[in-house]
Amino acid sequence: MKGFQVDESQGSVFTSFTEVPVPSPGAGQILIKVHAAGVIPTELLWYPTTHRESGEPRPHAIPGHEFSGTVASIGEGVAGFARGDEVYGMNNWFWDGATAEYCCTVPSSIAMKPTTLTHIEAATVPISALTAWQGLFNRAALQPGERILVQGGGGAVGLFVVQLAHRLGAQVIATASSENISLVQALGAERVVDYKASNFEDGLAPVDVVFDTVGGSIRKRSAAVLKSNGRMISIAAEAEINTDPQVRAAYFIVEPNQEQLIEIGRLVDQGQLKTFVKGVVPFSDASLAYTGAVRDKRTAGKFVVDIELR
Ligand SMILES: NC(=O)c1ccc[n+]([C@@H]2O[C@H](COP(=O)([O-])OP(=O)(O)OC[C@H]3O[C@@H](n4cnc5c(N)ncnc54)[C@H](OP(=O)(O)O)[C@@H]3O)[C@@H](O)[C@H]2O)c1
Repeated sequence: MKGFQVDESQGSVFTSFTEVPVPSPGAGQILIKVHAAGVIPTELLWYPTTHRESGEPRPHAIPGHEFSGTVASIGEGVAGFARGDEVYGMNNWFWDGATAEYCCTVPSSIAMKPTTLTHIEAATVPISALTAWQGLFNRAALQPGERILVQGGGGAVGLFVVQLAHRLGAQVIATASSENISLVQALGAERVVDYKASNFEDGLAPVDVVFDTVGGSIRKRSAAVLKSNGRMISIAAEAEINTDPQVRAAYFIVEPNQEQLIEIGRLVDQGQLKTFVKGVVPFSDASLAYTGAVRDKRTAGKFVVDIELR
């Protein structure tokens, strides 16, 4: 099959579109024929992209750990899915990802694809929506009526954070660039600060929760607007290697969760949760989605690799 691989050489990351073996699903695993793969550009810099779980170097990793596709075959002992099922979900960061014709995963990391979405649209959902869900509900335990500041409200994760927090009945304040302000407002933010034109702190009463998708100085400044019993959630890639105990406490990495994928899919199919495709690139041009050099791109949402388009 064709696959898109990442390599690191002399400190720089490069990618190639090449011939690789079709993975074989072991016991308890499922082989997915990938139709579309979501893109998180910073993934190329993440630890599992260049290291194995044992810590050894990991050359030739295939990135893109969220996908929409069809079940191609199932390993021994797998129940609940059958060949031909249309599914969406994610796979293990240390396994080869979905920027390939096929990838392996486990049943607990996938769910049936929302029926109202195309494969391209569905590939934008798993990691962004699960990250938003787990940050808001499992980590921050956001409550109706609480005030939340979403840093990066127009980003792939931020768009889901805004919608889910608003749906819960929280008061949502977000930052976004000017192009995305009206969208973020329409999705439920009662106030959106253009982060390039003003300081988000100006006139902001203390908040119960900060959901930081940006990191660095933005996270530091956000800590100052938290109530004394407030909760900071940070997912920014930069926080992964930060050793500050407060940053470590705020940071988490999304985990696959079938129940949450089912509930997210249900909300999508009921029209209560929207997803946004920022741009689509053909499989052979997957590197463009990682550099951002995508033609006809929109301002918000997630880039997707169309595996069926060469
Ligand atoms: N820990 C995890 O499990 C996990 C999971 C998913 C993603 N991530 C990480 O989380 C981060 C966000 O991911 P994403 O997929 O949502 O990325 P994204 O789509 O690129 O969104 C980032 C957003 O941040 C906004 N932004 C940039 N600078 C800002 C600033 N100074 N103030 C406020 N907003 C600013 C951008 O706005 P404009 O584009 O409008 O300028 C953009 O909308 C990345 O670092 C990614 O690696 C982590």
